[in-house]
Amino acid sequence: MFGKIKSFVKEDNKIKIQFQNKTLIVEIINSGIVNFFVPLFRVERASKAVESFVNQKCYFQVTKEDEGVVITTEKLKVKIFENFKVDIYDNYGNVLCEDYRGDRCSFIRRHGNLDVLALEGHKVVKDSKYKVMVLKKMEGNTFFYGLGEQTGHLNKKGYHYKMWNTDDPSPHVECDECLYKTIPFFIALKNKQAFGIFFDNTFETHFDMGKENADYFSFSAVDGNLDYYFIYGPSVKEVVGGYTKITGTTPLPQMWTLGYQQSRFSYTPESRLLEIADNFRKKDIPCDVIHLDIDYMDGYRVFTWDKDKFPDPKETLSGLKERGFKVVAIIDPAVKKDKGYKIYDEGIKNNFFAIDKDGIPHVDKVWPGDALYPDFANEKVRKWWGENQKDIIDNGVAGIWNDMNEPASFNGPLPDDIYFYNDGIISDHREFHNVYGHYMAKATYDGIKEYTKKRPFVITRACYAGTQKYSTVWTGDNQSIWEHLRMSLPMLMNLGLSGMSFCGADVGGFSFDCTSELLSRWVQVGAFTPLFRNHSRDYTRDQEPWAFGQLTEDINRKYIKLRYRLIPYLYDLMWEGESTGLAVIRPLLLSYQQDENTYEINDQFLCGENILVAPIVEQGRNVRMVYLPKGDSWIDYWTNETFEGGQYIIKKAPLDICPIYIKSGSIIPNYPSQNYVGEKEIKELILNIYPSSTNKESSYVHYQDDGESFEYRTGKYNLYKFRLQNENDVVSLKINYEYGYEKMYESFRIRINNVKVLEVMVDDKKADFIEVDNGIEFLISSKNKKCFIKIK
Ligand code: GLC
Repeated sequence: MFGKIKSFVKEDNKIKIQFQNKTLIVEIINSGIVNFFVPLFRVERASKAVESFVNQKCYFQVTKEDEGVVITTEKLKVKIFENFKVDIYDNYGNVLCEDYRGDRCSFIRRHGNLDVLALEGHKVVKDSKYKVMVLKKMEGNTFFYGLGEQTGHLNKKGYHYKMWNTDDPSPHVECDECLYKTIPFFIALKNKQAFGIFFDNTFETHFDMGKENADYFSFSAVDGNLDYYFIYGPSVKEVVGGYTKITGTTPLPQMWTLGYQQSRFSYTPESRLLEIADNFRKKDIPCDVIHLDIDYMDGYRVFTWDKDKFPDPKETLSGLKERGFKVVAIIDPAVKKDKGYKIYDEGIKNNFFAIDKDGIPHVDKVWPGDALYPDFANEKVRKWWGENQKDIIDNGVAGIWNDMNEPASFNGPLPDDIYFYNDGIISDHREFHNVYGHYMAKATYDGIKEYTKKRPFVITRACYAGTQKYSTVWTGDNQSIWEHLRMSLPMLMNLGLSGMSFCGADVGGFSFDCTSELLSRWVQVGAFTPLFRNHSRDYTRDQEPWAFGQLTEDINRKYIKLRYRLIPYLYDLMWEGESTGLAVIRPLLLSYQQDENTYEINDQFLCGENILVAPIVEQGRNVRMVYLPKGDSWIDYWTNETFEGGQYIIKKAPLDICPIYIKSGSIIPNYPSQNYVGEKEIKELILNIYPSSTNKESSYVHYQDDGESFEYRTGKYNLYKFRLQNENDVVSLKINYEYGYEKMYESFRIRINNVKVLEVMVDDKKADFIEVDNGIEFLISSKNKKCFIKIK
């Protein structure tokens, strides 16, 4: 198809290679990231995921060798051959990724007596619906991760996935090929080295991770350009860092968004909403957010209120705000076809809706009945939509939940020949479908940011690569079944590896009826997921934390309270994530890439670097095996027992125990109990310290700011840097500060776990301490710089 290489030229950081039939542009993003672009569909690269990043100036060399063009950077050697075959090596000459040279051959699907075909082995695939396709050679020991929220297991090897944002109401199953999100990015891990591939194509794309043939994996698209990035590690962390450098990271959210969130389809009328709020406070269960699902609207007309159900939303929401409750309201894209309804009239007048081939606005069926789809591809529409957030925010709504934006319709997918005004270019539904939700979230985010100047809280169901810059995501309509609790772990871990740091699943499950045991086990997982929202659908049984009686209410309270103590830790992770791209929920392999036992752990995760969670995801189970990764020792959060890493242990876990392990050497910041974030002014930060038993030095950086504005971007924040050492029977804690924000803690309550203490010295003076459980506690002023704790 490409033919022989005729010539090449180097222009800044690009190398233009002219083949007989096609042009390839190779762009060196930095020494470890290379983009390959062939304009098959459009001449210009108009990425929806990549907005702005400055290419790092880096040295590279281009030479012509017998076989082809060779590009050498500090980290990579990229060899390009005729017919655009490309092989990539590290700078030691090890092959990282090679193009597959053979023909596509599929395995045989047998039916009846087809033994003859069986003898022939694989079957050559002749026709293909793909206009773009890349095949890469696969080694047997390759593991694949990422690809967004796809169902199934953590490792995607041997499966085929489709990226076509889909709202299919049937229960999610392991063999689903696609759900609501398109994140065409994956990570390959082979011989402990990792690289990633981001295939930036918004059409229906396919990822075959060795299902068709174990000799290769492939990515393909039904149309569009060939545009992909090779992102070198060698660590998985560096691959995620590289991918989020290109597509953006999740910005630090307002702190309250990390609190517990209660939702239901739907809390109406107003009296029910207030009853829910009352119950949380009465029952001493912390809660920050209550969601309003579609029934708060007048006939499902977006940006309206049903005045029978909510006669005075402003007053109601302001009453809730005084008690610490923030209200998040749902906004779907589909606009009811209804003359006289402001949003519809404005949209029609300004040609703001997607149109059919004759230029007539397309009408489909969604919640409001006949409805039209705003053309979010058009910047003017995004601005209009953004401005429409003003009214709902003036009524006191604190965050917006965007749903049904695949875009979904009750008649199935929109026809291919629906048109969008895509940054000035008319695009059909095939091209714009997968980014519809992305642009809706962007419009919402930009509108809220412009109006409130605070960090917007947006949740979206559909997205594309890069949506993490605007929105948190949830995994859509799961069910109250154990299988979906189990499945949510790899889904969230892979979302995290795909840049979607702020994510969660509906805790308790959306459809079907939850049970008390399932809810408690789900709350135990939710307590560690960044978006911690319990949501259930209409006509299912109640699912609030108290809905199943005292025993499970107490368990749910215990874990929701634990979550609130961990808020500063989670907030630190979100802050760090804004620069590193790393998520809160992580598979073990992210931190323990040298330990191959971690590569396929589906039912355990790390919350940041320091907390390992091994939840129970099976009914009736009260004991489980836990793998503790090699290289660190681990402390049982409940019993304080220490275990060496690199072993499997058996942990008893009755219903009120979720197995949690703290990495030794950890410093974990805690807040005191609160009913909601911001209830108390936190003058004293608790530091929960687990000294390392192996004399390892460790450190932790705690971040503090106003919790809501963008002022941190101009330096208004404090950093507290702690260094911990355990040497010669003395645990030392040294503190360094960086101030930019006027409010700082007055004191630190230091809690040292798992030690018998003889003496505590704070800045060279002897200090008092008290013994607690399995350790000690003492208070220091935030002006103190160092503590020495003499242990037995
Ligand atoms: C969709 C959403 C769900 C919501 C429902 C009604 O099914 O995924 O969360 O409750 O619509 O708005």
